[in-house]
Amino acid sequence: MRKLLTKAVAAGAVFALALSASACSAERVGQDGGASAKGFALNSLVGVALPSQTSENWVLAGDLFTNGLLAAGFNADVQYAGAATSVADQQGQISAMVSRGAKVIVIGATDAAQLTAQVKQAKESGAVVIAYDRLITNSAEVDYYIAYDNLKVGQLQGQALLEGMKARKSTGPWTIELFSGSPDDTNSEVFFSGAMSVLKPLIDRGEVIVGSGQVDIAQTAIQGWKAKNAERRMDSLLTSTYSSGKPLHGVLSPNDTLARAVLASVKGAGKPLPVVTGQDSEAESVKSIMAGEQYSTINKDTRELVAETINMVKTLREGGKPAVNDTSSYNNGTKVIPTFLLPPRIVTKANAATAYSLDPKLFPLTR
Ligand code: BGC
Repeated sequence: MRKLLTKAVAAGAVFALALSASACSAERVGQDGGASAKGFALNSLVGVALPSQTSENWVLAGDLFTNGLLAAGFNADVQYAGAATSVADQQGQISAMVSRGAKVIVIGATDAAQLTAQVKQAKESGAVVIAYDRLITNSAEVDYYIAYDNLKVGQLQGQALLEGMKARKSTGPWTIELFSGSPDDTNSEVFFSGAMSVLKPLIDRGEVIVGSGQVDIAQTAIQGWKAKNAERRMDSLLTSTYSSGKPLHGVLSPNDTLARAVLASVKGAGKPLPVVTGQDSEAESVKSIMAGEQYSTINKDTRELVAETINMVKTLREGGKPAVNDTSSYNNGTKVIPTFLLPPRIVTKANAATAYSLDPKLFPLTR
């Protein structure tokens, strides 16, 4: 992940890391590093191994990959890990893609650290490995990483949380709670670092107070990105910290699934709704934002991410090296992975209608 993930986490240096990470742009800056395939025939097999469908972006990605790869002339094998045995499922799916002779394997990791053997196997067979959305750790054989700028996602969430709270109560201190994503997803720590790079200076000055005192990522993590785990944690925070009527002004939530779980918990307790952030522009959350409940989400258009990934595959087919725009930020514990980052967009009630029309996941909704 960004700047030596594992070491940074071990040293508790995530905030410094977030601040020192170089700004990225979605502009292509070159073709530094990274593998090139020797070129391969159209109709070759391209494998896509996706995690279980923990958010709408993953649901959408599967169809986009299947259709996009077929339209580009490839043979596509797109698989999801099951919900219960997701790590073993994904390991088996990647091995099967290797056995079937896939030339490129695109992986949205279920557990970032548990694919070392499968990625090695893929490389030994001559396949190029692209980490999609989530970086794969402990594996020097990962060739490329493509994602929305995860650190920027976290920064936008932190800024939105502050703006939302200021709009309701112009001066601090504001009391908040922090939630982060699943610990087996490399993105969780990056989202959290980005958000804390914005919030921590205010926490240090006493302008923002974390009511429960739970500021460590390990205390805030929601295993498996599961709504029920987030709702349970929020229930227990409300009981332990807010039962005496202390106000809760805001909740940092890393994505929409967890944001809605937090809101459900607060509603269930009959308390006023805090400002709650999110990510993914999920249909239910955009509706909630328009209704004035969830405060913000992040638009990461899955169509663009899949299209850019398929562009990488096309370049590899031609024997070239895919363009990247970040060659310093994402060290997966073994080496810096050449990366292509896209820019995320913040969505609040002010621009939700625009984001809504941008996002194909939301087309079935009526406004
Ligand atoms: C993705 C998020 C998503 C989360 C849970 C992360 O790796 O980047 O968009 O909300 O996984 O599925």
